Amino acid sequence: SASGSDYEHPMTRFSFSLNATDGKARTGVISTPRGEIRTPAFMPVGTAATVKAMMPESVAATGADILLGNTYHLMLRPTAERIDALGGLHRFMNWDKPILTDSGGFQVMSLASLRKLTEDGVTFKSHIDGSKHMLSPERSMEIQRLLGSDIVMCFDECPALPADRRRIEESMRLSMRWAQRSRDAFGDRPGYALFGIQQGGLEEDLRAESAAELTKIGFEGYAIGGLAVGEGQEAMFGCLDYAPDQLPQDKPRYLMGVGKPDDIVGAVKRGVDMMDCVLPSRSGRTGQAFTRHGVVNIKNARHADDPRPLDEDCTCPACRNYSRAYLHHVYRAQEMISGMLLTWHNLHYYQEIMASMRGAIAEGRFDAWEAEFHAGRAEGDI
Ligand code: GUN
Ligand code: ZN
Repeated sequence: SASGSDYEHPMTRFSFSLNATDGKARTGVISTPRGEIRTPAFMPVGTAATVKAMMPESVAATGADILLGNTYHLMLRPTAERIDALGGLHRFMNWDKPILTDSGGFQVMSLASLRKLTEDGVTFKSHIDGSKHMLSPERSMEIQRLLGSDIVMCFDECPALPADRRRIEESMRLSMRWAQRSRDAFGDRPGYALFGIQQGGLEEDLRAESAAELTKIGFEGYAIGGLAVGEGQEAMFGCLDYAPDQLPQDKPRYLMGVGKPDDIVGAVKRGVDMMDCVLPSRSGRTGQAFTRHGVVNIKNARHADDPRPLDEDCTCPACRNYSRAYLHHVYRAQEMISGMLLTWHNLHYYQEIMASMRGAIAEGRFDAWEAEFHAGRAEGDI
């Protein structure tokens, strides 16, 4: 921006190189001026200019190449204009790798009150102080530019599932008109990317129509939106059996807001390249740890005298340096280190799954990898 970004002209433009496929699973690299994103990629969520309970250097140490930020939260507090004046979101939060920002429409629908949706956009009241705000494709593009986001998402809208076909169709078509307006408003910004968002619920023909509209407009990447909104894993996988195939092969595909470890593995198997979810960070703060054997609830009394680490084979600081007994104690005592250690472990574990999948795809052994992933994994808590 004119006022303050520390970041100068990009030598690298935004590009995606697909390096190997195994079945529908893909591995590659997204190159940006801020660095490379190895795919399949998991993006930790840094909603309010922080991955909660983590220093940015610790997030990088878990293996994350990119973070997600939120237009909705940052426009309300501290505002995009303030972040721009302070040199952009990267400098503000001390994260110099790529940042993807969601566009705000989806968060307005789940968090704001008194929402009014029109062809132009949406007006709403802040969940923080009740103040009135507006978002439109044009305003969302402006905010994401002020933030300095490397991967900007189109402004879209989507109904919670189940919803009737008519509602899903109308909403998808509105989002496609907004996608064109997002493309127009984004303009020509070398080194930055704009991703379209496919909608259409669980209706294959509406997903196809949405994909065709987006492809016609042309984007640097394509997201699959409107999933993980209450439909369940089986229905989501049913949709992912065709949705990624409807999108261009040579561009990154991003499944928004997913998910649990087995959701992520199932999505990659079906051709998804990028994902984000609050689950590893949020669960870290509520005493839930994801491990290769299943979910560990550290608050459970049976951990109180257990000298073993959370996961014997994990190399994260929580597992290398602390016992389950300690993690149980600090959780019960509501000490801040509890959320810090469990979040670190969870993000480390998620990134280990991603790295391990990238290796398996590159070597053409994804099916065997997946079988091993599922073996010895409990459904419920362990
Ligand atoms: N996050 C999870 N799902 C969605 C979606 O459909 N659209 C947007 N913008 N963000 C999401
Ligand atoms: Zn660990």
